[in-house]
Amino acid sequence: MFPKSLFALVPLVPTVLGAVASPFAPAALTPLSSSTNYTGQSNGTLAKANVVPGKVFDRFIQIWLENTNYEDAASTKTFQSLKEQGIQLSQYHAVTHPSEPNYAAAAGGDFWALADDNYYNIPANVSTVVDLLESKNISWASYQENLPTDGFEGFNFSSTNYLNASAPAYTYYVRKHNPTILYDSVASVPSRLARHRNFNNLAADINASVIPQWVFITPNMVNDGHDTSVDFIASWLDYFLPTLLNNTAFNDNRTLILLTFDENENYAVQNRIFTLLLGGAVPSHLKNTTDDTFYTHFSTLSTVQSNWGLPSLGRQDANATVSNVFSLVANVTGYTNNNLTGSSNASIDAFPLTNLTGVYAGPLNAQKYVPFLAPELSAKGAGNGSVFVAASGVNLNLNLTSAPRPVNLTALNQTVPAAGPRANGTDSGSSGSSSNSSGGSSGGKSSERFLEFGVDGLVEWFVGVGVVAQHIVQIN
Ligand SMILES: *[C@@H]1O[C@H](CO)[C@@H](O)[C@H](O)[C@H]1NC(C)=O
Ligand SMILES: *[C@@H]1O[C@H](CO)[C@@H](O)[C@H](O)[C@H]1NC(C)=O
Ligand SMILES: *[C@@H]1O[C@H](CO)[C@@H](O)[C@H](O)[C@H]1NC(C)=O
Ligand SMILES: *[C@@H]1O[C@H](CO)[C@@H](O)[C@H](O)[C@H]1NC(C)=O
Ligand SMILES: *[C@@H]1O[C@H](CO)[C@@H](O)[C@H](O)[C@H]1NC(C)=O
Ligand SMILES: *[C@@H]1O[C@H](CO)[C@@H](O)[C@H](O)[C@H]1NC(C)=O
Ligand SMILES: *[C@@H]1O[C@H](CO)[C@@H](O)[C@H](O)[C@H]1NC(C)=O
Ligand SMILES: *[C@@H]1O[C@H](CO)[C@@H](O)[C@H](O)[C@H]1NC(C)=O
Ligand SMILES: *[C@@H]1O[C@H](CO)[C@@H](O)[C@H](O)[C@H]1NC(C)=O
Ligand SMILES: *[C@@H]1O[C@H](CO)[C@@H](O)[C@H](O)[C@H]1NC(C)=O
Ligand SMILES: *[C@@H]1O[C@H](CO)[C@@H](O)[C@H](O)[C@H]1NC(C)=O
Ligand SMILES: *[C@@H]1O[C@H](CO)[C@@H](O)[C@H](O)[C@H]1NC(C)=O
Repeated sequence: MFPKSLFALVPLVPTVLGAVASPFAPAALTPLSSSTNYTGQSNGTLAKANVVPGKVFDRFIQIWLENTNYEDAASTKTFQSLKEQGIQLSQYHAVTHPSEPNYAAAAGGDFWALADDNYYNIPANVSTVVDLLESKNISWASYQENLPTDGFEGFNFSSTNYLNASAPAYTYYVRKHNPTILYDSVASVPSRLARHRNFNNLAADINASVIPQWVFITPNMVNDGHDTSVDFIASWLDYFLPTLLNNTAFNDNRTLILLTFDENENYAVQNRIFTLLLGGAVPSHLKNTTDDTFYTHFSTLSTVQSNWGLPSLGRQDANATVSNVFSLVANVTGYTNNNLTGSSNASIDAFPLTNLTGVYAGPLNAQKYVPFLAPELSAKGAGNGSVFVAASGVNLNLNLTSAPRPVNLTALNQTVPAAGPRANGTDSGSSGSSSNSSGGSSGGKSSERFLEFGVDGLVEWFVGVGVVAQHIVQIN
């Protein structure tokens, strides 16, 4: 993504965009109707799953919008009115810029030093919230508006422009906003892949009363505001939310709904985003209240862990500084939040900076590359206190303590091993007339993937260093 604030520096661009911008119109008759505008047809509903009771909620639904400054959302009538129906989390922050690392963080508990929106496949030995949920048989799904087929792994997809019939096909779906698909531990397992569904399926699953217990919802590129404005988002919310909030197959008195943004638009200030907790799990005495606790996207993981007594990922989801549990839940489970206080002004803030990008070393930063490390086994998450480690493929000897120093792969003309579609990829998007699923900037070759940690990861790592060492570039 490109911050819209940068576009504002180029006076001509908004004029051009203004000329093609179409006003909001719904993609379907109602949020519970099917529509050809969603591209992929409904493909049957999910099976009805047993409900695993949580301490405060039995269903957690996240709806993520795009790139909007806190003040811009706060000044909008729709958000003001929604605020009266729930709890405002006034100090909820995104974790970095741009978009993709924020989505990656919400699934895997880290953004892996990612500083761009390119095509990545995070290796299969890196666990996600899906492993935690499935460890307790908690059902889940990711509903992506305009996903062309269930489990589509392409970089993006363009389909008929339903807002302007005379305009060319429009890129409504992008992979970078689909958090769980970024991880091979999810995408390489067919039953997990099939849980990436579109809005025809969302309607079908609500109508069949089979909405799972953990749900991620990504509206398309116009409805989430990425290509449009906060007013367009508001129109979409006015269309979409009341019907669903009113439907007990979606929102019952054990449903907690997080309405948030991936990031703000202004990189020069803290990354505070307008965030609400809605849904029947919010007791009436807490409606129209504000919770000033410092939260981040990692709080979505710690809250779910605390609610269902799940292990942590041993990543930032278990870092007490950045993963406070929503008070609604912490008050019941007894989890003690930190008492960091702050404002949007960093000089008087105890909050860590959330607007930094590209400065971190990690497996998805080519200029400061460090391989994926094992989870931190001593971490104490907000759930049952244990750390989830995949049954195989994790080398515990490649960890935070033993991590090699960062290497500048860019200087070696290399990309990170996780870049690009999988070499053996099941990239179902490469066919079809309206498909537009080209990869990101860099293509990963399997021969470049030797630095990933694995059962023999440490050995592989030394072999890898041996190869890289021909041109090794160390960073201090
Ligand atoms: C697709 O969206 C357009 C614009 O809102 C609408 O006129 C049309 O009826 C929609 N199609 C269907 C099948 O809902
Ligand atoms: C329907 O499901 C099958 C099997 O999972 C899959 O191959 C196909 O792509 C799906 N179709 C759509 C439109 O999602
Ligand atoms: C909510 O449901 C009630 C009762 O079924 C109905 O009367 C009302 O019109 C619904 N409101 C919306 C916004 O769907
Ligand atoms: C929650 O909903 C269930 C099922 O509809 C109902 O039996 C129960 O009384 C409700 N609880 C509260 C506190 O409203
Ligand atoms: C991040 O936000 C802080 C606090 O507003 C500001 O002082 C700093 O300059 C910002 N950093 C960047 C890289 O823009
Ligand atoms: C919500 O709170 C605000 C101020 O705290 C108040 O003005 C408003 O009337 C309240 N709304 C409702 C629906 O209670
Ligand atoms: C926890 O988060 C803080 C703030 O971002 C950071 O400074 C610290 O290094 C993190 N701890 C670990 C172990 O990652
Ligand atoms: C949590 O408990 C504190 C202290 O009793 C109280 O002030 C706060 O309102 C509670 N918050 C929620 C969301 O329940
Ligand atoms: C935060 O403050 C509360 C109330 O003063 C206290 O009980 C709690 O232990 C504090 N938490 C931390 C992490 O210091
Ligand atoms: C981290 O790795 C080192 C050596 O690579 C090993 O000695 C140590 O036990 C590992 N730590 C954990 C917690 O596994
Ligand atoms: C990495 O190498 C590239 C290309 O030589 C260079 O432009 C960049 O500044 C280097 N980055 C770091 C962090 O040293
Ligand atoms: C990287 O590629 C550039 C341009 O092809 C070349 O000049 C340079 O020598 C290469 N660097 C390395 C370390 O291979």
